[in-house]
Amino acid sequence: MEFQGGEQSDNAKLVKAQSHIWNHTFSFINSMSLKCAVELGIPDAIHNYGKPMPLSQLIASLPIHPSKTSFIHRLMRILIHSGIFVTEDVTNKNNEVEIGYVLTDSCIFLLKNNPFSVTTLILMNLGPTGTKAWHHLSDWFKNDDLTPFETAHGMTFWEYIDREPEYRKSFIDGMASDARVVSSLLLDDKWKGVFEGLESVVDVGGGTGTVAKAIAESFPNLKCSVFDLPCVVDGLQGTDNLKYIAGDMFVDPIPPSHAILLKWILHDWNDEECVKILKRCKEAIMHEDKGGKVVIIDMVVEDDNKKDYDRSLESQLFSDMLMMVLFSGKERNRIEWTNLIFSAGFTRYKITPIHGLMSLIEIYP
Ligand SMILES: C[S@@+](CC[C@H](N)C(=O)[O-])C[C@H]1O[C@@H](n2cnc3c(N)ncnc32)[C@H](O)[C@@H]1O
Repeated sequence: MEFQGGEQSDNAKLVKAQSHIWNHTFSFINSMSLKCAVELGIPDAIHNYGKPMPLSQLIASLPIHPSKTSFIHRLMRILIHSGIFVTEDVTNKNNEVEIGYVLTDSCIFLLKNNPFSVTTLILMNLGPTGTKAWHHLSDWFKNDDLTPFETAHGMTFWEYIDREPEYRKSFIDGMASDARVVSSLLLDDKWKGVFEGLESVVDVGGGTGTVAKAIAESFPNLKCSVFDLPCVVDGLQGTDNLKYIAGDMFVDPIPPSHAILLKWILHDWNDEECVKILKRCKEAIMHEDKGGKVVIIDMVVEDDNKKDYDRSLESQLFSDMLMMVLFSGKERNRIEWTNLIFSAGFTRYKITPIHGLMSLIEIYP
């Protein structure tokens, strides 16, 4: 491509191309401004105010140094531009009209005490441990490390969370926040049937049990177990129909069960590892010989030839890169899922999209 200059259309193209690259270079500013807003508690402050919040009130409610008060409106301006907040005119007690900040629908995920809060996930992904891995992406392309995370930190993600309790906590809390969103969808009348008629279910890699707890409460006669690494489940207390089992899914036998749940597990691993996990899950459900199934909750990436790059597809592509950088995993399209399922010896599957980003994949021996 050449820009000759002079021609008006060439100039317009040049400006467009320059701003395209400029905006890509600086799109981290959206991420970091969001992180800052979460850390300062801005969404909660506006939520607690209960009506459009004037700048002066917002400033007064934030834990900031007096020398920084004049900078808040600039942070708010970029967050309004990126659609996190909106404004409404408000009339103050002197009868002057001023701007009031208002939450958008997206903010439900940013309120610290909301069940849908993903603030821990935001802080984990945008904190120094996570972002350091991204600085090593091109080094990783040139070396034989498993992941950029390993290039950055000298160990795999799973070794890191085993050694670093603070990071492990933020990871587990982050996973639990998404698990709350998915549980609420999964146990909606529309999808609940997936667990009906089952006698037992093991949530393999179920973290601290957010999804399993919700299933156990909805189905009191269903025996639920969470199988996860000792560093994640040791010391956790179960209930009558929920127990925690510590183990490594590649080494220890997966407890026999009528059904196995794998939520956000297979996207963490490469195809070979996924086939291993699925074969072990198959053994666990065949052991019970009750015509069991494996229920996978993961993304099914849309066909990127469609060119309708909507927000969900962009989120899926981001997530795929994240899986490459942190783990040795990937997000898969329908063909890739089918290959995995059949390679592991399953004969039938059913894919049901449950919301923009997630699908339910039921697979049968
Ligand atoms: C991405 S998280 C998903 C957690 C949970 N299923 C959810 O969606 O909230 C992956 C989980 O797999 C667990 N995990 C990783 N390696 C494992 C292994 N070898 N055996 C058992 N669990 C493992 C991690 O501890 C973590 O809880």
